Amino acid sequence: MSIIYIDEATGSDTTGQGTEAQPYQSLAFAIFTTADAKYLIRKDANTSYDEPTQSAIKKGKKGADGLEKKRKKAEELAEREAKEKGEEREKRERLLEENKSIVLIEDTSLAKAIKAKISQLAEHRSKRVRVFGWVHRLRQQKDITFVTLRDGTGYLQVVLSGRVNQTYHALTLTLESTVELVGMLQVVPEGKTAPGGHELIVDHWQLVGAAPGAEDAFTNRLNEKTNPSIQADLRHLVLRGETASAVLRLRAALLAAFRQTFVKHSTIEVTPPCLVQTMVEGGATLFKLDYYGQPAFLTQSSQLYLETCLPSLGDVFCVQESFRAENSHTRRHLSEYTHLEAELGFINFDDLMTHIEAVICESVDILLADPSSAALIKQLNPKFQPPARPFLRLSYVDAITWLNEHGIKRPEEDKDGNAIKDENGKDIMVEHAVGDDIAEAAERQMTDIIGKPVFLYGFPAELKAFYMKRMPKKEGSNAVFTESCDLLMPNVGEIVGGSMRISDYDELIAAYKREGMDPSTYYWYTDQRKYGTCEHGGYGLGVERLLAWLADRYTVRECSLYPRWPERATP
Ligand code: 4AD
Repeated sequence: MSIIYIDEATGSDTTGQGTEAQPYQSLAFAIFTTADAKYLIRKDANTSYDEPTQSAIKKGKKGADGLEKKRKKAEELAEREAKEKGEEREKRERLLEENKSIVLIEDTSLAKAIKAKISQLAEHRSKRVRVFGWVHRLRQQKDITFVTLRDGTGYLQVVLSGRVNQTYHALTLTLESTVELVGMLQVVPEGKTAPGGHELIVDHWQLVGAAPGAEDAFTNRLNEKTNPSIQADLRHLVLRGETASAVLRLRAALLAAFRQTFVKHSTIEVTPPCLVQTMVEGGATLFKLDYYGQPAFLTQSSQLYLETCLPSLGDVFCVQESFRAENSHTRRHLSEYTHLEAELGFINFDDLMTHIEAVICESVDILLADPSSAALIKQLNPKFQPPARPFLRLSYVDAITWLNEHGIKRPEEDKDGNAIKDENGKDIMVEHAVGDDIAEAAERQMTDIIGKPVFLYGFPAELKAFYMKRMPKKEGSNAVFTESCDLLMPNVGEIVGGSMRISDYDELIAAYKREGMDPSTYYWYTDQRKYGTCEHGGYGLGVERLLAWLADRYTVRECSLYPRWPERATP
């Protein structure tokens, strides 16, 4: 006969084994698990194991009967549930099978449906319409299915009830499936809301492309818990979301607004090449490639080409991709970005900054005046206020003073530009001095404190590109500053970089020499100064950065269709 141990103090009826090492806690449980055994019981570890008294055994048996009853009940319940579930599944399968015979045929006696995009529906209210799109949201109740349809132009509330809700496809409809829907467009009843203020009461529909359900369902591949790296892999699916698509729609409206503004300023659009054999912003950030056996690059900026257009077309602009091989993982750097650049002839430095300010403010005004782009801004950045003009202008030298007055320091660097660490491995921070590059962190802190757009201008020549026009030297100083400006925006930092250009032939040749550049590859750029030069200047604006400011996005990566950054060129 087996021996079962029970320790009423330290034993356990859930994890115990009835052995001396792992005793049970109650005699009732011991009898319930092993009916014919020798039981040894103790109160706690300080007493010895003993056989239970007759009355204890009697009580234990009663308890064991109770436990047995409980077990039976649970077993019966599980059986019943399994049966019900099976019946339910069978019933659903039967229903699905039966409903396969329900075939919808469009009623030709009804008014002809007008094919329309969701954004055009307001003009077709109380009429029969035909719309196509994706099932964006889905709520299935007993006799009625509510769908939010998405077609890229907007969202539409859809109601399926009666026969149209009984087909096999209606019962098995999934998110992200494509459908063709026909029905009456009705204004929603008072007190109810729906996108556009109307809903489609479907009288005929068909499935165009079913999206998978179950494990491969859209929401299993992508949801709010998906980690950022997988989200980046699934950018093509992320784009279907309400926020991502709103950002892209606003981006399109922004580019259209810029184009409208440039037309108003008699500035013509050109499309310069992306494949080039000259650098603009220094060799360190060039993507190099083999071009039929010759070295070539992906363009860093279209500026030099825009300059050559002035004598032909007058003031010009372009919206072109620029490429920067910067190993920067910050929230404002991309390896490929959309660069809005403009070049203007016969202007001075003050005209240039006034023009940049005008183009940005007028384009923002166009967006705010248009109900659909104003709604996108409200959705993405509810607190957005158009910036007041004129923008603050702060010279580089004054900015250095401002940083020091506000205790904003920079890491001390060795001669190779590496931060010097203290004994605890922390950067040693020092005050800024004239000649220092204002690093991204300091620049961001400054912009956030100032809290509005600010032009920083007049940077030291040694920090800037070869083509920048120099300011006359101040008496008694050897420092050389340039007619250059960066426009800084709160939350983003620099969104525009611009300058006046060297217009004098000899000065440009000297600049090539100073920078160790081969003038022969720049012959076409130099010719601008040879055949009728003029004072001119221009700028480049990072479209994703401006959009991050306008739409209050955390990173420029959200503002590009398929963003590229170091080690990311997929999808
Ligand atoms: O200041 P940058 O380098 O200026 C130029 O390229 C001039 N040649 C432009 C011109 O005068 N036509 O770049 C201009 C702007 C920056 O202010 C920033 O908004 C954006 O381009 N930009 C970037 N945006 C995203 N990712 C990057 N890696 C960027 N680098 C510059």
